[in-house]
Amino acid sequence: MAEEPKNGDAVGSGVGGREAEEEQVVNPWEVTAKDGGKIDYDKLIEKFGCQRLEEPLVRRVERLTGRPAHVFLRRGVFFAHRDFNEILDVYERGEKFYLYTGRGPSSEALHFGHLVPFMFTKYLQDAFKVPLVIQLTDDEKCMWKNLTVEESKRLARENAKDIIACGFDITRTFIFSDFNYVGGAFYENMVKVAKCVTFNKVVGIFGFTNEDHIGKISFPPVQAVPSFPSSFPHLFSGKDNLRCLIPCAIDQDPYFRMTRDVAPRIGYQKPALIESSFFPALQGETGKMSASDPNSAIYVTDSSKDIKNKVNRYAFSGGQDSIENHRKYGANLEVDIPVKYLGFFLEDDAELDHIRKEYGAGRMLTGEVKKRLIEVLSELVERHQRARASVTDEMVDAFMAVRPLPHMFS
Ligand code: TRP
Repeated sequence: MAEEPKNGDAVGSGVGGREAEEEQVVNPWEVTAKDGGKIDYDKLIEKFGCQRLEEPLVRRVERLTGRPAHVFLRRGVFFAHRDFNEILDVYERGEKFYLYTGRGPSSEALHFGHLVPFMFTKYLQDAFKVPLVIQLTDDEKCMWKNLTVEESKRLARENAKDIIACGFDITRTFIFSDFNYVGGAFYENMVKVAKCVTFNKVVGIFGFTNEDHIGKISFPPVQAVPSFPSSFPHLFSGKDNLRCLIPCAIDQDPYFRMTRDVAPRIGYQKPALIESSFFPALQGETGKMSASDPNSAIYVTDSSKDIKNKVNRYAFSGGQDSIENHRKYGANLEVDIPVKYLGFFLEDDAELDHIRKEYGAGRMLTGEVKKRLIEVLSELVERHQRARASVTDEMVDAFMAVRPLPHMFS
């Protein structure tokens, strides 16, 4: 039984699979544009059945929180949602909600694409003053990346340090790893969800095949149930109707389409979502960055020298091939990676406008734009590295302790 069409969740529409070879593929494990081109986000919204995040909603966030919207919201990095307006209704009535996001710990070092949802979640936590649960799916990566249990658990703790370095408020944040936390009420919810989802359904949503092991096939409930407050009795006991908002990249949508389909059938509220586009690779905007190519991304462990080299050597430029042509035709901003990256991380709207105008008209050269980007990224990375260096093992334990958060709503 799929949801009512008015809710827009296209469950089981077969988008996870490779139904037609030439179609773009976007699921939690694969992001491939059609014919090696760009991801068509309009098409994704239509296929997934989510809603576009329009300007009035951004204005409403500013009104309700009394602060300017985050750059990622202002500039459309978070571009789609499901029922985000209902979360704002709740908030406007003076009630609260909670945030849920996560990370699959598949690598030691995070790149900027990994940081995007966490930077945004930190803003949401500060702006709305709400509790946050962060799931580290060490079990997921153990199954998909062929890591040992021990290695996945180690990576989860290492990644937790980078996440904590984003500045989350310990009085409102619970970080957990699946290997450590799954059980009790959380597991009860997993079983309730699992009973509602047929094999056919997950094949339709995720594109699993008969050859996939049953670990993969049975995983989706693990990522689903943090959407339900009753999975966290130490936090939300007696608050079964508390709404949940999930900030994530849009490749995670299949999990939550499934979750939203099941929720009303087991008497729970559907989680709301706010979804981002993908952070482009240095080589150009054709999908997500590839963990297997270290030169396709800037890592938070990179030195200023690494950043300089990578930007200068690999960042795809929309500038013309000769200075003469560049002065004449200007840069193609649509494909220019330095400008795209500045759009994520240069907070000053006026400066960004100026760069776009001057570079687009050919009065500014690629080298100048790259130089500015190198400054911006280096500063960000240095700040992150300082913050991470001060995260101790005791702090990780403190964030991950199963404990009540008495001041999480104040
Ligand atoms: N599956 C996600 C990943 O591989 C991790 C994750 C778990 C997540 N729960 C989430 C991401 C909720 C966003 C929101 O990175």
